[in-house]
Amino acid sequence: MDKLLIVDDDIAICESLKYAFKKKYELFFAHEPAKAMEHFNHNEIDVVLLDLKLGKWDGMDLYYSLRERNPNAVVIIMTAFGTIKSSIEAIKKGVFNYITKPIDLSELEFIVEKGVELNNLYKQVSYLGEELRKKHEQDGIVARSDKMKNVLSTVNKVKDIESNVLITGESGTGKEVVAKAIHYQGKRKNNAFHAINCSAIPSNLLESELFGYEAGAFTGAVKAKKGYFETSHKGTLFLDEIGDMDPLLQSKLLRVIQEKEVTPLGSSETRKIDVRILAATNRDLKRAVNEGTFREDLYYRLNVINIHLPPLRERKDDIPHLIEYFIRKYNRILNTNIKDVSTDFINALYKYEFNGNIRELENIIERAMALSEEEQLTVKDLPQYILTNKTPIGNTEKLIPVFIGESLSEIEKRVIKTTYEALGYNQKETAEVLGITARTIRNKLKDMENKE
Ligand SMILES: Nc1ncnc2c1ncn2[C@@H]1O[C@H](COP(=O)(O)OP(=O)(O)OP(=O)(O)O)[C@@H](O)[C@H]1O
Ligand SMILES: [Mg+2]
Repeated sequence: MDKLLIVDDDIAICESLKYAFKKKYELFFAHEPAKAMEHFNHNEIDVVLLDLKLGKWDGMDLYYSLRERNPNAVVIIMTAFGTIKSSIEAIKKGVFNYITKPIDLSELEFIVEKGVELNNLYKQVSYLGEELRKKHEQDGIVARSDKMKNVLSTVNKVKDIESNVLITGESGTGKEVVAKAIHYQGKRKNNAFHAINCSAIPSNLLESELFGYEAGAFTGAVKAKKGYFETSHKGTLFLDEIGDMDPLLQSKLLRVIQEKEVTPLGSSETRKIDVRILAATNRDLKRAVNEGTFREDLYYRLNVINIHLPPLRERKDDIPHLIEYFIRKYNRILNTNIKDVSTDFINALYKYEFNGNIRELENIIERAMALSEEEQLTVKDLPQYILTNKTPIGNTEKLIPVFIGESLSEIEKRVIKTTYEALGYNQKETAEVLGITARTIRNKLKDMENKE
C-alpha cells in the first residue's frame, strides 16, 4: 500500500481525509512539523498532503525540511488562504500540486493518485540508477567509457569458455583486475585463482614454484611441494608479466599447455591438470617474438583471445567515475568523509597524461584525501606536477642504454632522439623535459640530421 502523510492542525479535516483515503492508502497523521518530520523520516512516505497554514507554523518551512531530507519528495499543498498567486509560487519551488479548501475530495483523490505515480517513477529511476551503477562497477571495475564497456563485454564472452586469454596494456591499466573478473565471474569461481609475477622471481625459483618438486630434487628441497599448476587445478593461473619469462621456462610452459600435464622437478611421474591460463604483459609480445626473445608457438597458445586495456588517457570518460569510486573506497579505508570534488580538480586530472594509468590516479586520490582537511577536494590537494603536466617522461619502462666507453656526445644524441620520439616529435616539450632552451634543441636536432 502506498503511504500518505497528512499534515494539518485541523482535526476535523484530518478525520474526513481519513475516511476518504483509508481504504486505498496507509495513512500517517501529524498536526505539527516535528511529528510530520518524524513520520517522514521513519516510514518511507510516498506522498505528503501539507496544510500551508499550520497553526503558528508556516507550512512552507516544513516543506523545505522535507525536501532537504528527500529532494524528490512529492508534496501536495492544501490551503484555505490560497490565492492562485501563492500557490503558483509554491509550484515554482517544486511543490507537486495544490488544492484549495474547502476540499473537493474527488479532485484531491485524483491529485494524490498522480502524486503516487510520480513518486513510483522517482523510485524506479533511482533503483535503475543503482542497478546501472552496480552493473558498471561489476566487482569493482569502473567502466563507463565505450572502450572499457567493450572490454567488459569481452570478459563476459570469455568467462565461461576454456580458451587462454592474453591481457595486454600499459602498467596500471587494470590487467589483474580483468583477470580476476574473468575468474570470479566464470565457471571456475569456486576454485583457486593464483597470480604469479614472472618477472619478480628468479627463473629457477619460478620453475619450482610453477611445477613443484619432490623431496631432494635440488639442494634445499627438503620436503616435496606442489606447484601452482597443481594447486590451481580446476581453477585459474594468472601469469603476470609473461614477457619476462626465461626462454627455457617458456618451452616448458608450452608443453604443459599442450599436454595438460605437469611433471614436478625431480619426479618421473606426470600429473594431469585442468587449469585455465590467463597471461598478462605490458610489453609488445609480438615484437618480442620478432626479436626472438619470446617463443612464437607459445605466443599463439597464450594469445587465443586478446583483451587489450587502453591507457587511461584514451578513455578519459572514466576519470570522473574512477574518482568517485576511489573516494568511496578511501573514505572507508581512511575513515574520512570527503563528499565531492571541485570542477577544477576534475579538470586538472582531465588534462593530465597519466602514464601510470589507473594506479597513478588511485594514488593521487588517496594522497589528496589523506591530506585534505575539507569535505571537498580541490586543486590545492593535487601535487604540483599534475598542474604542470610534467611527468610524461617519468616513464621507467623506456630506458636508454649507455655503453661504457661511449662519448658523452653519443649518449646525448641518444637521449635527445629517444625523448623526442617519445614525445611525439614535439620540440617544445622535448626542450622542457630535458631542461634546455627551444633554440638549443633546434640546433642539436639540426646537427644530428646533418650528420645522419
Ligand atoms: N576499471 C577499474 N576500476 C576500478 N579500479 C581499477 C580499474 N582498473 C584498475 N583499477 C585499480 O588500479 C590498480 C591497478 O590495477 P592492476 O593491478 O589490475 O593493473 P595492472 O595492469 O595489472 O598493472 P601492472 O602492469 O603494473 O601490474 C588496482 O588498485 C586496481 O584495483
Ligand atoms: Mg599487474
